[in-house]
Amino acid sequence: MSFEPNQNLTNFSVTAEVPSNIALVKYWGKRDPERQWPANDSLSMTLNAAKTITTARVVTGTVDSLKRQDQSGRLTSMDQSDKALRHLAFLRRELGMSGSLELTTRNTFPTGCGIASSASGLGALTMAAIGAWTGAKNLDELEAAGFNGERLAALARLGSGSACRSFHGGYVLWTAGNEPDAQGVLQVYDQDHWQLADLICIVSREEKAISSSAGHLTAATSPLFRPRLAGLPERMRRVRAAIAARDLDALGAQIEAEALEMHAVMMTANPSLKYLQDASCELITWLRNEREARGLPAFFTIDAGPNIHVICSQADSDKVATRILAAFPQVTIISDSTGGGPTLTGRQLV
Ligand code: DP6
Repeated sequence: MSFEPNQNLTNFSVTAEVPSNIALVKYWGKRDPERQWPANDSLSMTLNAAKTITTARVVTGTVDSLKRQDQSGRLTSMDQSDKALRHLAFLRRELGMSGSLELTTRNTFPTGCGIASSASGLGALTMAAIGAWTGAKNLDELEAAGFNGERLAALARLGSGSACRSFHGGYVLWTAGNEPDAQGVLQVYDQDHWQLADLICIVSREEKAISSSAGHLTAATSPLFRPRLAGLPERMRRVRAAIAARDLDALGAQIEAEALEMHAVMMTANPSLKYLQDASCELITWLRNEREARGLPAFFTIDAGPNIHVICSQADSDKVATRILAAFPQVTIISDSTGGGPTLTGRQLV
């Protein structure tokens, strides 16, 4: 399909919606931070409700502007040192694009409560910017302009590694390959293969003191890092087999061990990184007890923060959420599930 770019781009606005994802096998540690080459393969589930919605438009002038809208609708302008604006400048150089952009972005989930927003945020920024520069009105036109999902994922990865896994729905594998350019992102199963719930339990709203980008850089100082890498191919094999068989018990055992192992690497790194809080540990201890003593069919995973993602079947999610809230009334739950990939909608402004 050939694609004629819109000649009057300043009258064109494009909105990208890119979902967040939760890693079941974690990306932790980089072989080459410059080229965003991860130390290991990782696998995630794309989320449905938690996403970033970014609108972009080409404007006259020489400066990009980015406004973040919070839950109450208030807009905050980002300064030029913001990670997203730096990625935008990189994209423009790398792709030889011209035109300053005006962007507005918002998350469908509360920010500043420890839920990672860099995967969906950098993903949506990448897609919206390229949509505005090319004048593409949908994903087919973006592909016809030379930007298929694979290329968009590779570009978004350079802004934030985990963003590359948000360009497909369902269950997504990011392979490290044996050189930086041999990385790949592929959908292992789509969202209809197995619908799981992710009950994101907010135990703390504190901003983390050390970003994951900084944490990745010290991962290799942990004496547990090499043994972890040695064991990961087998864990990946088991996780993939459990997803293939839709076997929650088998998946749950793997993802819990995986999350704890990543946090053990973090805590034994130099300097030591401790993201888990007492409230995180209380919740996971309770969950394990409920499962063993009362058969609650739910398992946890944790990202680089104190909040706990409880994974269970969609059918059990209300029951599991009710039990969590009865035991931990101070916890807020964001209820999410397996979702589809991103969308792009462009429209001519009158
Ligand atoms: C713990 O993708 O946020 O969530 O590439 O430096 O932006 P950068 O890091 P980021 O790391 C995510 C780490 C993780 C695990 C995961 O999502 O795989």
